[in-house]
Amino acid sequence: MSMISPSVLSADFGNLNRDVQMLNDSECDWIHCDIMDGSFVPNISFGIPVLRAISAVAKKPLDVHLMIDRPDQYISKFRDAGADILTVHYENNLHLHRVLNQIKTEGMQAGVAINPGTPVEVLTDVLHAVDLVLIMSVNPGFGGQKFIENTYNKILRLVEIRNQAYNSFRIEVDGGVNSANVCKLFEAGADVLVAGSAVFKAPSPLEMIKHLKNAARGVFP
Ligand code: DX5
Ligand code: ZN
Repeated sequence: MSMISPSVLSADFGNLNRDVQMLNDSECDWIHCDIMDGSFVPNISFGIPVLRAISAVAKKPLDVHLMIDRPDQYISKFRDAGADILTVHYENNLHLHRVLNQIKTEGMQAGVAINPGTPVEVLTDVLHAVDLVLIMSVNPGFGGQKFIENTYNKILRLVEIRNQAYNSFRIEVDGGVNSANVCKLFEAGADVLVAGSAVFKAPSPLEMIKHLKNAARGVFP
């Protein structure tokens, strides 16, 4: 199933409760939560207490994207705060395989993310251990950036690797997703698309989610 995971990074933090309720009422599949520490990425978003507040209201799985250093120290804390899917970056995890196993042991789905400058091939030896690969289609840190076109090549290469290895992880694409590229991304092989500003800056976020979801249905009914 092709899925949409709106990112609350672009929500109105003063009305977070209202915006999460809107996502509950929408056709979205997951709720994407971007955790940034001002060290791994040059921005600070929100942390565990805010995630817990989102979780208290959310009726959809929380798709938590960690852009923090030393995520291994916080795995169970994110689980306790409500994370269902927990994604860590390849680039700052020396013991990636161990961290991914830790996430699964804590009862969550394990995801690994790669930056635009990181080739998909570096993940070959952890693909058996993941439920999700997140391909960043912008440099992580901010919402509202321009989509990087090379992402399509990376999706195609990862689909090929997945087929060859008989793996079943999902492919998620994050950054600069909008109504202009949604069909092409699903066609290339993405399973989950994250959309922040495209959803929350739209005149009607509910209608935009419906539109993105319809595109998903059109490609893979
Ligand atoms: C960027 C975040 C994204 C961001 C996407 O570092 O990982 O999830 O919220 O925002 P848009 O859809 O506006 O590019
Ligand atoms: Zn993200």
